[in-house]
Amino acid sequence: MGKSNWKKPPKEWKAKTRAAHVGYDPFLSMGAVRPPIFAVSTFSTEDAEKLEHMFRRSYGFETPLSPDEEWPIYTRVSNPNFIMLCDRIQCLEQGAEDPTAVYFPSGLSAIFTTVLTLCKPGDTLIFGYPVYGGTDHLLRHHVPERLGINVVPVDATDLNQVEDALKKHADTVKMLFIETPANPSLAMVDIQKVADLIHQNSDGLLVVDNTFMSPILQHPFMHSADIVVYSGTKSIGGHSDLIAGFVIDRDKRRAFRVQSVRVSTGPTPSAFDAWLLFRSMDTLEERVLKAQKNAKKIARFLKEHNKIERVIYPDFYDKKSSEWEIFQKQCEGPGSMITFDPKGGKKEAYTILNSLHIFGLAVSLGGVESLAESPWFHTHMDVSDEDKRKSRFNPQTVRLSVGIEDADDLCNDLDQALAKI
Ligand SMILES: Cc1ncc(COP(=O)(O)O)c(C=O)c1O
Repeated sequence: MGKSNWKKPPKEWKAKTRAAHVGYDPFLSMGAVRPPIFAVSTFSTEDAEKLEHMFRRSYGFETPLSPDEEWPIYTRVSNPNFIMLCDRIQCLEQGAEDPTAVYFPSGLSAIFTTVLTLCKPGDTLIFGYPVYGGTDHLLRHHVPERLGINVVPVDATDLNQVEDALKKHADTVKMLFIETPANPSLAMVDIQKVADLIHQNSDGLLVVDNTFMSPILQHPFMHSADIVVYSGTKSIGGHSDLIAGFVIDRDKRRAFRVQSVRVSTGPTPSAFDAWLLFRSMDTLEERVLKAQKNAKKIARFLKEHNKIERVIYPDFYDKKSSEWEIFQKQCEGPGSMITFDPKGGKKEAYTILNSLHIFGLAVSLGGVESLAESPWFHTHMDVSDEDKRKSRFNPQTVRLSVGIEDADDLCNDLDQALAKI
């Protein structure tokens, strides 16, 4: 007995069905409709040969012959809740034959482990700014200073800069890292064009942080990305109650190498968090689309407000700009992040932040509840003022992550806060 579609869904299944059904067969757990939590550190194996095979696999020597051969041996390596979760998340990616997910205890640990897997001292890593402030700090400081990797920041919206950097470091480039839309400027990078540039000019790989759009609104593999990373803390988790990350690789063997670096360096997520994430996936599309619907309304409200100087939201990009063209080609919607500048400066931004009742004054994004923060003084405080201005944000910039509350209540909350400046 058993459900036939729980590992590999039929091609015609849409995201909503995949996200709610793939990864779990109730008949492996006495019919329990939801999976149990495997709060277990170590697992029995039916014979020594299989245990040897799984050890070889955990050190990256060989991949299982079939997905059914997947068998946990020790939770730092894997756990049934991790396996279910990875089966579920990887089946949402489009544009790759057999995408393989690796689960991490945070988005930053997913990014760092990808760097450790792809680059060694003396190699070059190019990254397109702006990226999330924590990623920026990791790449500008720890990666070059502690690992001796040559890190070259470029403005990835400027293809000439990307090409120049790739040509200059052609022999040593192993990785180009981009985030699109970028945090907090929502700048769009053309994934296909930068993928072509790195593939033509080096043997390096394109890694795309797809956190802002989630697997519902953007599919980097369809535009020739090699590896996609997520902070699972955001839309995938969606309830601001856990920290998580994912690396999804179009190449199964390379994914196992990433996993083996994670296993050897030690970061281990918890089975309970994997179970929560698995549950969150059921509602991922509903949450992402509802938050986006709210964000569209709020962005229009802000754009028409007389105390607002500028609103950055993809719907408002100049229809003749390359940004609009990329947005149309690459994204299935504008998402739920809005960046705006009130009239005035830091004082006005802080008055708004301190006056909001429904929007929480907190960093992070992609949760069911709406949040607001100052990228200049909070999330991106370590980025130089010059780079912040180049990435089109100012001391008065406010970043909103829109949740799934009532859109009119959210507009009213912003309205009363704006009335205080
Ligand atoms: C776009 C993006 N990538 C990565 C991260 C890091 O993720 P985590 O906080 O799960 O380590 C964040 C965190 O805010 C983010 O916004």
